[in-house]
Amino acid sequence: MEFTAPSLPAIVGLGTCLILTYLLVTRVMVVRHLQHIPGPPFAGWTILWLIRRQLGGRLALDLSEVSKKYGPISRVAPNWVIVSDPAEIRRIWNVRGPWYRGDWYDMFKMDQPIDTVLALKDNAAHNAHRAKLLPGYSGKDVENFHSVIDRRMADFVDLIDRKYLSTKDTFRPMDLSEKSQFMTMDIISDLAIGNCFNCLTEDRDVYGQIAFVTGSLGLLIAMAIVPSTLKLLQHPLVRALLPQDKVAGVNRMMAISQENAAKRYGPDRVVARDMLGSFVAHGLPHHSAWLETFSQIGAGTDTTATAIRMTLYHLMTNPDSYRKLQHEIDTGIKEGRISSPITDEESKHLPYLQAVIREGLRVWPPIVGLMPKVCATEKIVCGKRIPPGTNVCWDPISIMQNKEVFGEDARCFRPDRWLEETDAAKLKTMEQVQMLCFGTSSRWECLGKVIALSELNKIFVELLRRFDFSVVDPINPFKSWDASLSVQSDLWVRIEKRNVAGGGK
Ligand code: HEM
Repeated sequence: MEFTAPSLPAIVGLGTCLILTYLLVTRVMVVRHLQHIPGPPFAGWTILWLIRRQLGGRLALDLSEVSKKYGPISRVAPNWVIVSDPAEIRRIWNVRGPWYRGDWYDMFKMDQPIDTVLALKDNAAHNAHRAKLLPGYSGKDVENFHSVIDRRMADFVDLIDRKYLSTKDTFRPMDLSEKSQFMTMDIISDLAIGNCFNCLTEDRDVYGQIAFVTGSLGLLIAMAIVPSTLKLLQHPLVRALLPQDKVAGVNRMMAISQENAAKRYGPDRVVARDMLGSFVAHGLPHHSAWLETFSQIGAGTDTTATAIRMTLYHLMTNPDSYRKLQHEIDTGIKEGRISSPITDEESKHLPYLQAVIREGLRVWPPIVGLMPKVCATEKIVCGKRIPPGTNVCWDPISIMQNKEVFGEDARCFRPDRWLEETDAAKLKTMEQVQMLCFGTSSRWECLGKVIALSELNKIFVELLRRFDFSVVDPINPFKSWDASLSVQSDLWVRIEKRNVAGGGK
């Protein structure tokens, strides 16, 4: 028998067939992994469905559509599911549960190999690190906690008085989305680094950080869905290739954080009763100190700014709620129950204000990211088997708008729902679900919750006692981009000074 060597095209053809068969078999194996969980068909085969939604800037809305169609648990990528049942998410996020953070959190690594609290995935390491930060974040160790917030709010009021008051003859619109972020940036920089960035007094994004984050966040978070790509970004060589003019301001902020932290360590260290002083006193090592203070700016700026601007937006577009809140504030001032500025304690005795804050955070949760949790062993979630290593994420919109928990009109901004509910058990469930926006009752509960709530407790009183706000363009009121943090821009408002006894105080 004569043997003839195969031709080159035959070898190429055979090779291609083998590769395609291998790819098909491995893909089928991946798809089978979660094939018992319903979801968009294409999403079962490739991660591209999820990445495309993330890059599209409306991931949270898209996920809520998926839940509506496929039920309380849906597969959104070969190794990813979303859960829209609040009780199941509370169980998974439970403080003592076996779940831990997925690789998605690698995007919060600021400076490898040291992790910030937000990036720590190992539960034991996270608990130990978190314990060093907790006293500082709770405000108990921090002397200037409330005075910083009050000062920066006074800067906000002053900015409006100086530049953005309209009258019947003058129109001086203000972008509320931008200015609320200037305020949260000034508060956090002052509290965390002890160096206020003065965005409000200069009326600009002093270090370009807001523009930088807004411009890069969408891509960063899409990369977090395939965490191996993040390693590239974190490589010093790639960092050196980034447009230096864009990162210059952020580098300057990092340098300020480093300089400030350096003063707190070593033989001639400065001892202070501020947040960083508390971290140092509780044993945070030098290198972690500047990373933690710097990452606070990311964690605490956009989030609280979203809560402020979107709650105010919902008040402006719901005149009944706006009037009720302003009435509560005016009456409180008249009766001497509200100081100038209002104290945190006083604000807790204003029921309508508290209902407005809850409702604002509920209808527009500032963090709508996937926040995947993973388990090392097989688990049952919503009655379905979840293989080890599967990323289990929340569907924030469906959870916050759950009709069984919040009522038929759960989509609407209606603060009164918090005051009308007479069933104590039902009210407790409403509170527990709404507080998931801070990750409350989880081992990862927002460390900045006390700061954020303190800002929210004060800002609406300080603004509405002095000014009246209205939306400039009700047809296109603002632009919104969901990049895990929900980012809004161009929320233009018209502001008038109020003429009320005690209001201008
Ligand atoms: C309304 C405003 C805010 C909201 C809705 C919010 C929400 C959240 C959520 C949902 C988490 C949990 C993430 C996870 O599950 O892994 C978190 C964590 C965190 N937040 Fe906030 N946050 C807000 C404001 C702030 C502020 C003002 C700061 C800092 C000053 C801050 C600092 C942090 C930190 C450091 C963590 C990590 C906690 C840990 O890993 O143990 N947040 N936040």
